[in-house]
Amino acid sequence: MRIYQNISLKPYNTFGIAANASQFVELNTLEEVQVLCKTFNLTDRKLLILGGGSNILLTKDFDGMAIKINLKGMKVLQSDEQSIYIEAMAGEVWHDFVEFCVQNNWGGVENLSLIPGCVGAAPMQNIGAYGAEIKSVFHSLTAVEIASGELLTFTNDQCEFGYRESVFKNKYKGKYIIVSVTFKLNKQPSLNYSYGAIQEVLQKAGITDPSIQDVSKAVIEIRKSKLPDPSVLGNAGSFFKNPEIALESYNQIKIKYPDMPGYPTSQNQIKVPAGWLIEQCEWKGKIVGNTGAHKNQALVLVNYGTANGNEVLNLAKQIQDSVFQKFNIHIQAEVNIIE
Ligand code: FAD
Ligand code: EPU
Repeated sequence: MRIYQNISLKPYNTFGIAANASQFVELNTLEEVQVLCKTFNLTDRKLLILGGGSNILLTKDFDGMAIKINLKGMKVLQSDEQSIYIEAMAGEVWHDFVEFCVQNNWGGVENLSLIPGCVGAAPMQNIGAYGAEIKSVFHSLTAVEIASGELLTFTNDQCEFGYRESVFKNKYKGKYIIVSVTFKLNKQPSLNYSYGAIQEVLQKAGITDPSIQDVSKAVIEIRKSKLPDPSVLGNAGSFFKNPEIALESYNQIKIKYPDMPGYPTSQNQIKVPAGWLIEQCEWKGKIVGNTGAHKNQALVLVNYGTANGNEVLNLAKQIQDSVFQKFNIHIQAEVNIIE
């Protein structure tokens, strides 16, 4: 394990923001994670734990230690007729893990195909797409407590998963390094392709009884058609969460905007696509300096090449203000803003 000084984080964040870290270390084994935590008093300094860097916005040089998690490996822990338990190490690429499952016909993560990033970050915000979230296949994770270097296990309940939320973004923020995640997948899955766009793609391909592979392929096709590829255009996916508002407010706004989409999350709450709100405020496709809201998906803010983090943050604030002024709805960042 070697600690480097003053390292550029540009290759380590998909927004492609140029910012340096005062210190940088790559960790390849559980032992290295524990040694680092036990040897240095890490609670005294700023830390940035890095997976694929696909859900962060660096706003300036990072005057602390960036820790890139590289632990690799996937193994079957247990298997019976119905289920299979697989442990994947935190540094595995998420989509590689998905492909491993899809190829073996183990169901549960096919709708989460092609989400960028690493396995270790997936529980952080309970990644979700196309009607699925990892909480429904998540069994447990192991994490090293930064203050003590001790290894602990967290069950599904203990992670307190919600929409783009977990305990690690809230009360345990900055306290643990996730080192592995165990998933419980289904050997006889009932596939979920009710999401409109998936059905359309399957229908077009003439598929009436899709396999796990078909659903995964459809999701990949949809994602590629909508979302900018970070290797071509810097971005971190949805910049904001979709806000949940009271049914009463929703009905009120709908009088003026009858086309406003919304999905009930409970009897009195409606989730509204932030992309629609942003598009109504005429930000979709707009370019502001080196940044902008993407032309196909207004929820994705992009870096046209040389944007710095503050430019993106300023644009995000302007978008938040205009959505608030027009709809009286506050949209919150989904991306982790690194100060
Ligand atoms: P990073 O960006 O490296 O880290 C994210 C956060 O987790 C940071 O706070 C970091 O400190 C922390 N962290 C990372 N690893 C660890 C660890 N091992 N232990 C403790 N803390 C850690 N997300 C979705 O949910 N659904 C989508 O459909 C989706 N689509 C996307 C599409 C695009 C084009 C892009 C660029 C992003 C998309 N995202 C989506 C967001 C992103 O891919 C996910 O949030 C992903 O899980 C982030 O993984 P990462 O390894 O890149 O995390
Ligand atoms: N819409 C617009 N204009 C836009 C974008 C969206 O009007 O520019 C409206 C349309 O009505 C569309 C609806 O929003 O039907 C939903 O759009 P989409 O299916 O693209 O999904 P989303 O709600 O914008 C969420 C996630 C994505 C995830 C997709 C697919 C959040 C914050 N985002 O986006 O996750 O991939 O659903 O399930 O929940 C991410 O987290 O980075 C991410 C990309």
